[in-house]
Amino acid sequence: MNKHLLSINDLSAEEAFEILNTASELAKISDGPMKKLPTLRGRTVVNLFFEDSTRTRISFESAAKRLSADVINFSAKGSSVSKGESLKDTAQTLQAMGADAVVIRHGASGAAQRLADSGWISASVINAGDGTHEHPTQALLDAYTIRSKFPQFNQSFDGLRVAIVGDILHSRVARSNVLLLTKLGASVTLVAPPTLIPVGVADWKVKVSYDLDSVLKEVDVLMMLRVQSERMANSFFPSEREYSRGYGLDITRLNSLSKNAIVMHPGPMNRGLEISAESADSHKSVVLDQVANGVLVRMAVLYQLLGGATLIGEVSA
Ligand code: CP
Repeated sequence: MNKHLLSINDLSAEEAFEILNTASELAKISDGPMKKLPTLRGRTVVNLFFEDSTRTRISFESAAKRLSADVINFSAKGSSVSKGESLKDTAQTLQAMGADAVVIRHGASGAAQRLADSGWISASVINAGDGTHEHPTQALLDAYTIRSKFPQFNQSFDGLRVAIVGDILHSRVARSNVLLLTKLGASVTLVAPPTLIPVGVADWKVKVSYDLDSVLKEVDVLMMLRVQSERMANSFFPSEREYSRGYGLDITRLNSLSKNAIVMHPGPMNRGLEISAESADSHKSVVLDQVANGVLVRMAVLYQLLGGATLIGEVSA
């Protein structure tokens, strides 16, 4: 595996499955008496968040602590960034504190790559979401969640049918998931109004549909996306009501899914807009599994990137 995880393009299918397999091993260990592993003792993980986050920041913190790493949480709000300090000076300050890994979330697409390429720091860089570009650990935890619900796809996602629905245009989650799920062999359909489909989608290995109702019966996984109003300077649909009518998951649509289909959402959810409360809380929803699996998958990523001194097998033996 590379020194950094900036994009799903940094991983081969084999490396992605290796992360999922490591997460599965960690899940078994977590079910046992030893909740905390000594694997990254003496290492420092910095969470460098220039954008808001609940799930990603907390799960990286939890993952690092469960591997016994020291954790420094840095949020741009309340830091010297608000006094105009640059990314370079911020990064070099963290380097001086001895960071071994920097987990960065930033509003600018390419910020994680910039940090990794800059030479400002020697730490591994993990992209925790950069603008509308990518969110690779979200895609990995989504793949892990899918595999846990469909064990027949343990070695390959060949034959798995996934629909990703909603605000594709602004979604780094959609980009990373398209790259990962197709790499693993899944068939992916993007469903959205034409205004929320990115230019250049013809080059992606996906099908595109503007009609949610026509794809519902055909999918194993329905991944609903958040409408990212904060990234919408213009109007992309006539009204929230019309958006929900065309692309929201309500109880009628939920009931037309096949018996074993699952509903995913990366969170945070706009209940009543892209997903109804009934659908979000239904037995088909795996939203909370995604959150729980995020800790395991991020433990696996930290373990693989930082090359823990103690092997998991030795700890569990
Ligand atoms: N899915 C996700 O990235 O959630 P947060 O913004 O809460 O981290």
